[in-house]
Amino acid sequence: MQVLRVTGGARLDGAVDVVGAKNSVLKLMAAALLAPGDTTLGNLPAISDVTIMRQLLEGMGCAVTESTVGATDRVTISAPEHLQYEAPYELVRKIRGSICVLGPLIARTGRAKVALPGGDAIGTRPLDMHFAGLERMGTEISIQHGFVVAEARELRGASIWLDFPSVGATENIMTAAVLAKGTTVIDNAAREPEIVDLCRMLVAMGAQIDGIGTSTLEITGVDGLSGTTHDAVPDRIVAGTWAMAAVATRGDITVRGAVADHLRIALDKVAQAGGEVEVLADGFRVAQADRPRSFDVVTLPYPGLATDLQPQAIAALSVADGTAMITENLFEARFMFCDEISRMGADVRTDGHHAVVRGRERLSGAPVRATDIRAGVGLVIAGLVAEGVTEVAEIHHIDRGYVRFEEQLRGLGADVERVESSTFGP
Ligand code: EPZ
Repeated sequence: MQVLRVTGGARLDGAVDVVGAKNSVLKLMAAALLAPGDTTLGNLPAISDVTIMRQLLEGMGCAVTESTVGATDRVTISAPEHLQYEAPYELVRKIRGSICVLGPLIARTGRAKVALPGGDAIGTRPLDMHFAGLERMGTEISIQHGFVVAEARELRGASIWLDFPSVGATENIMTAAVLAKGTTVIDNAAREPEIVDLCRMLVAMGAQIDGIGTSTLEITGVDGLSGTTHDAVPDRIVAGTWAMAAVATRGDITVRGAVADHLRIALDKVAQAGGEVEVLADGFRVAQADRPRSFDVVTLPYPGLATDLQPQAIAALSVADGTAMITENLFEARFMFCDEISRMGADVRTDGHHAVVRGRERLSGAPVRATDIRAGVGLVIAGLVAEGVTEVAEIHHIDRGYVRFEEQLRGLGADVERVESSTFGP
């Protein structure tokens, strides 16, 4: 099995580039289904999730052409007049985010048949708010043989209140509402920068959306949309990962191509740890001279601290001076990561939505498994501050969200390589 073999000890030093956000790009690609003709997306990350999303769109009859512009990819999605409305299981099971084709398919064809993605390592991940919102707009939804089967003779605007500001539910309801008859109001909508990015692209396609960036979105349906050209918003989670890596390794990293404003709470945590934060025109710099100080973490929807930075923060806190309390408010099983980092000697105790991390001088290298994308990079960061060698297995998770992660780490002075390992067998 391929693993990342990390030899601990290096202080990361240098600059890295951040490109478009996985959690926006997948939705932008799905939204291209809303308009027959060409939509071109730029600033794309070369990650496996984008490749799978491309295959999904091709399965629906789109032609997708790719080109590379500098360090980023660009795709042109040509959506046909008549779309296939089925999203097969073998692709959907690989990336749950692909459920985001549901809204655009219903809006364009009045129908959708999308495999139910099921849960994953971080939680059960129900879709009840997606369904409730689409049903209020006149869609009939049923689960048949592992598929979400949806039909809408006429999509109508509706007032929808979300029990929780779900990113996915906001996106699916919004992409349905842009072609619905009348006005849809989504109250308690998600406000993530990725939502704003999607809103901006939809408006460029001809959609009418008010309240962008707020928790109340008002979408007035139009008769048709047209293709556009759009560059994806930078990946704040990748940028935040580098910030936590700098803190953990007492390093000095300049993160280019990022938006510091999208990471206010995370960078504030860096300052609490004793790190120096410098906001730059094209990103930010984090320099951690001494052993980090502990800080508490509470994960919340945006603008709160992203749950997708929780494992990276725990990795930094595992070698910090002091004790930290972690509260995970989004995904009930996201502490699975703690079982793995404990194998490296981290002092982490979990109880339901809470974890307590008592910092240690150093961790010790060990063979560990990535259970999801963020847990994977969290374990690599832990390996960087451990004595000896750490082998991180199941690295396909990391490739889903990080572009050439180990190369970028080596560029910062880390000793990390992708190798075949006997520890984990074939
Ligand atoms: C998106 O997931 C991201 N994924 C996640 O990133 C991210 O952690 C999450 O938003 C929160 O920021 C993508 O964009 C592909 P939610 P999503 O709907 O849309 C509950 C990563 O590592 N909920 O905002 O699935 C849900 O169970 C991934 O890149 C319902 O109960 O998240 C969770 O507790 C991991 N019913 C909470 O809401 C619903 O119908 C937030 O989920 C929908 C959600």
